Formats: sequence, structure tokens, C-alpha cells
Amino acid sequence: MVIGVVGEARPGEHRVALVPTVVPLLTKARHQVLVETGAGAGAGYPDGAYVEHGARIAATRAEVFAEAGALAQVLCYSAANREGRADLSSLRRGQVLAGFMDPLASPETVREIAETGVLAFAMELMPRITRAQSMDALTAMATVSGYKAVLLAAAALPRMFPMLTTAAGTITPARVLVIGAGVMGLQAIATARRLGATVSAYDVRPAARDEVISVGARFLELPLDTGAAQDTRGYARAQDEAFYRRQRELLARAVAESDVVITTAAVPGRRAPVLVTGEMVAAMAPGSVIVDGAADHGGNCEATRPGETAVTHGVTIIGPMQLAGTVPAHASQLYARTMTAFLLHLTRDGALAADPADEIVRETMVARGGDVVQPRVREALGLGAAASPPGPATPSAPRDGPASSVPPAPSAAGLPARPAAANGGDA
Ligand code: NAI
Repeated sequence: MVIGVVGEARPGEHRVALVPTVVPLLTKARHQVLVETGAGAGAGYPDGAYVEHGARIAATRAEVFAEAGALAQVLCYSAANREGRADLSSLRRGQVLAGFMDPLASPETVREIAETGVLAFAMELMPRITRAQSMDALTAMATVSGYKAVLLAAAALPRMFPMLTTAAGTITPARVLVIGAGVMGLQAIATARRLGATVSAYDVRPAARDEVISVGARFLELPLDTGAAQDTRGYARAQDEAFYRRQRELLARAVAESDVVITTAAVPGRRAPVLVTGEMVAAMAPGSVIVDGAADHGGNCEATRPGETAVTHGVTIIGPMQLAGTVPAHASQLYARTMTAFLLHLTRDGALAADPADEIVRETMVARGGDVVQPRVREALGLGAAASPPGPATPSAPRDGPASSVPPAPSAAGLPARPAAANGGDA
């Protein structure tokens, strides 16, 4: 299969879906990699490095779309990447498309992608199971974002992070509060600790308490009933407004006493909960900094302007979008590994071999044969169950043939077989 990589469509996005070092992993599996010229340049991966590792360079974007059986992207067309819409007319029926699609928050754009007839996989929907860990792009990006959020805060804060005892006097450590201790929050805690700050953190999931303590922060105990705050997938459940109101009241003092607040609280498919009000911002000391790591989902702070930095009551509120993209070299390196593991999982002997009964395929496959097929995305669109659930597999696509050679079946039943033995141990 020819795996195509084009430059990202979103302005200012410098990540690239595959980096040169993963190319041999794909060519060894009988794929070819075709990269649009300059696609990796913004992340520090020049065309020459791709060629050295066995990829071909295409002179134009159109060439990649025309030749590729599968397209690997970081940000596909979604509400967060409207610019990606221009690529829809270049996609063709049966072609594989894999990348972030924001499918639960942006289901309408998934529908538009589906209308092109592509076989689309949303990386956000990767199940959090052991065998999919190496394909977990969301976790990889959240790690980068947590690190960078702290650096943004440190750069904006008119104080230093570490405690210093010098001949010129003693400097007390910065007090950092992290709200939301998932992957991004835990990395923010670890980074702030490395810089010498005193860190406390809060999360609604009771399981987060031990994780917070294990990375060296104090867990903020709030008298809230969080017994049902976690869903079966390990994500936070949305709470009602009374819960959030009470949470804000309880957080107010800790926010006011912090030099830096980093918020990362998210609920999949929902707008991020507002946990820091304008009033809470006003109670912070002038010079304090908030980095709203949930800005992509509307923000945890009422005063956040997504994509901008605002100063109100002397408090700097930074609302970065696609924060991982601001560390493009390492973000691309990590993303490329997850994408490569996923592409290898979907294929066998250089041809598409995705088993619709496999949990990884079933959860991530959002569009097929012109339809939106992922149940949660269908629900978000107000559609009923898909016409036909994933069914028995049909014969494999021809070896070396592009994905478009897989008949675009009207139901999920037409995906070629993946032998059961091949499903188990590749994560
Ligand atoms: P996320 O990005 O959806 O949300 C970030 C954090 O915000 C979560 O920890 C969530 O509990 C928290 N949050 C939501 N509402 C909140 C509120 N009102 N107040 C405070 N905090 C709030 O979550 P992420 O980082 O993707 O992690 C979700 C879960 O998945 C975690 O349990 C994590 O440990 C787990 N996980 C499992 C993996 C695996 O098994 N392979 C890999 C990565 C994460």
C-alpha cells in the first residue's frame, strides 16, 4: 500500500504525521511511503531525511492524494481545522484516511468526510486497552502539551519557579495548581516539580489521587461526591451544573493562593467544564498566570480566549490551541510512532486487512462506504444504529494494491479479514 503524507492544512501547524525514522518500519511491512515535498520541514524533517530512510517525495499535494491508498494526517478536517475542508475533493472512495478528527465534538465534519467514501479512522477514539497503548496518539500529544503548558506559564510569570537561597536573599518557590490530573495534568505536575515549584492538583476521578501523589504533588481534597465521576473507559463523566458550582466554590481559595493555575479538565465529546470564573481570576494576585490547557474544548476558565493571551485584573490567561503542535519535532516523532503502529495493525503483507470485529478497528473506524459507522459519532449526529453492524470478513484486498481496491461495501461487513492470530500482540 502507498501511504501518503501531506503538509498539515491548519495554518501554523508544523507537526507531520510520519517522520523519517518510521519509514523503514513501514517499508519493511511492504508499504511505500510518499511524502509531499516540505511536509516535514516545519518539524525539522527535511525531504532528504525521508529519502534517506526509503520514502519517495511527491512534488505536489495532489500527487500524494492521487497515488496514496492510505493517508496519514495529524489533523484531518474538523471544526478545529476548517482549512482541511479543501482536501475533501481530493479524497476518493475506499482510500484510507487516519488522523485526529475530533469526531465527538465535530460529528458534522465526520459526516462530510464520510460522504467522500473514504474509510476513515479517528485517532482520538483509540480504546485505552493495553494492546492499543502504542497507538494512543491522544496520550502522546497530551504528554507534550502538559510539558509545554508549564513552560508557557514559567515564561509569563514574573517570578521564578524554584526556591533559591542566595547571598542576595531567598526566593520562595512558585505555587502551582493543576486542575485535571489526566495525562496532560500529570506531565504538567512532573514538569513544574522539575522546575522546583510547589505543586498541588485536583481531579474528579478518585483514582487520580494516588497518581498525583506519585509524581510529587499534593492532592487537593475537596468535599465533593465523586463516586460516579469516572466512566467505564476511565474518562471523567460530565457532572451537572450544581456539582460544578460547588466545585468552583471549593476551588476558589486554592486558585487565589496560586501563582500559576494550569487547567486540563476535559470530558470527551463535551465542552470543557468551567472551573475558574472571572471572579476567581480577580481574586488572584496580579502577575499570576493561568494556562488553560482545555482551550481547544472551549476552556476551563471563563476569561480564556481560545488561541489568545488575555490580561485581566493583572492576571495573564493563556489559551493555547493545539499546544502539542508548538513542540513539532518531538510531537511528530511520538505521533508518527502511534500512527505507524496503527497502520501496521490495519494491514498485513502490504495490504489493508482491518478486522471489523477487532476492538481497535471497531472503535476508531468512523466512516466507511459513504456512511458514518461509529455508534458514538452516529449518536452525536442524532442517527440511529448503522444499517449493518460489523459482520463476517470478505477476502483480502490484492497484495500491494491500494486500499481503494477494497470494495467500498455499503456496510461494515466488507472489510477484508485479519487472521485472529494477528490481532493479539502487535500493540
Ligand atoms: P481527558 O483529557 O479526557 O481529561 C483530563 C482530565 O480532566 C481527566 O483526568 C479528567 O478526570 C479530568 N476532569 C474532568 N472533569 C474534571 C473536573 N470537573 N474537575 C477536575 N478534573 C476533571 O483525560 P485523559 O488525560 O485522556 O485521561 C483519561 C483517563 O484515561 C485517565 O484515567 C487516564 O489514566 C486513562 N488513560 C489510560 C491509558 C491506557 O490505559 N492506555 C492511556 C492514557 C490515559
